[in-house]
Amino acid sequence: MKILAIESSCDETAAAVVEDGRKVLSSVVASQVDIHALYGGVVPEIASRAHTEAICGVVSEAIKKAGLETKELDAIAVTYAPGLIGALLTGLSFAKGLAYSTGLPLIPVHHIRGHVAANYLAFEELKPPFVALVVSGGHTSLLRVNSYTDYETVGVTRDDAAGEAFDKAARVLGLPYPGGAAMDRLAHLGNKKAFKFTVSHVDGAPCDFSFSGLKTAVINLVHNEEARGHVMDDSLRADVAASFTEAAVKTVCRGVEGLYAEGEALPLVLAGGVAANSHLRVALSSFAETRGVKLFMPPLSLCGDNAAMIASQAYYEALAGKKATLDLNAYACMEA
Ligand code: KG4
Ligand code: ZN
Repeated sequence: MKILAIESSCDETAAAVVEDGRKVLSSVVASQVDIHALYGGVVPEIASRAHTEAICGVVSEAIKKAGLETKELDAIAVTYAPGLIGALLTGLSFAKGLAYSTGLPLIPVHHIRGHVAANYLAFEELKPPFVALVVSGGHTSLLRVNSYTDYETVGVTRDDAAGEAFDKAARVLGLPYPGGAAMDRLAHLGNKKAFKFTVSHVDGAPCDFSFSGLKTAVINLVHNEEARGHVMDDSLRADVAASFTEAAVKTVCRGVEGLYAEGEALPLVLAGGVAANSHLRVALSSFAETRGVKLFMPPLSLCGDNAAMIASQAYYEALAGKKATLDLNAYACMEA
């Protein structure tokens, strides 16, 4: 089954064709990062407009690169939740139009399920059940994936997502948006013991996360350093990045440890943009080795938003009989 998927939930316009959920025939991503970098973050209205401009070209290119004609496709899939509502609606409206004009079935896909499915593209042997740790710009959660289409939330952030904290820390350190990857590099150059940030936990909920305190702490620390007349030179910035990263990674790992301490025995699957963080990958590898947990981490190319992951999940949604009608709506928030 060859599925064309469209992803437009945030600041990447993406389209891809994937065969039987596992074989990527094409994957095209048009990033809007340069536009939003001017404002230090994603401007939703600008994102919607940029998706509108890019989507025709991106979808045509994905079909062409797959070496197919539209009539050879079996279904159209689209991310319908969660995300920026205007951005989602752009991709959704396009997908509906395409499904209507071709007569192909329309398959709605949850963005987070897509992030998890990125791992199916990388690991042929990976099958549910497993635990997914999703860390992205908008989400941080621990999910029990009982089957390809049966998700259970076991832990969730009570406030900000991990990626949001990375991006705000990067911003206060003067790094361009989105700062996650630049923070990752800078943290390698600093002393992680230079500043002490609290590793948060949620009382009575060992698998939940909280990042807003850490986000505020790093912003206050930099402002205080500046107020004291300390120059935020490269070495000081690297120390802040390293110390912040140490706490952020420990915060993520703490939730995972909380779950496995309760007796969880399933493999652990990492997903989402922050899955690219090298410090987190090292920490999780070491946790998995110590605890004898089987760990799957997607290649860096599949961590960020793309449509191949959406097409992969769509295949399993289709097998489970999920099909949308043309009155399908988009939703800014929705549990996986
Ligand atoms: O999954 P994603 O592409 O979009 C959402 O669904 O939110 O994640 C984007 C997030 C951004 O916050 C970005 O800064 C972060 O992932 N990110 C990283 C790294 N690469 C991307 N955060 C930390 N370290 C990285 N290497
Ligand atoms: Zn995402």
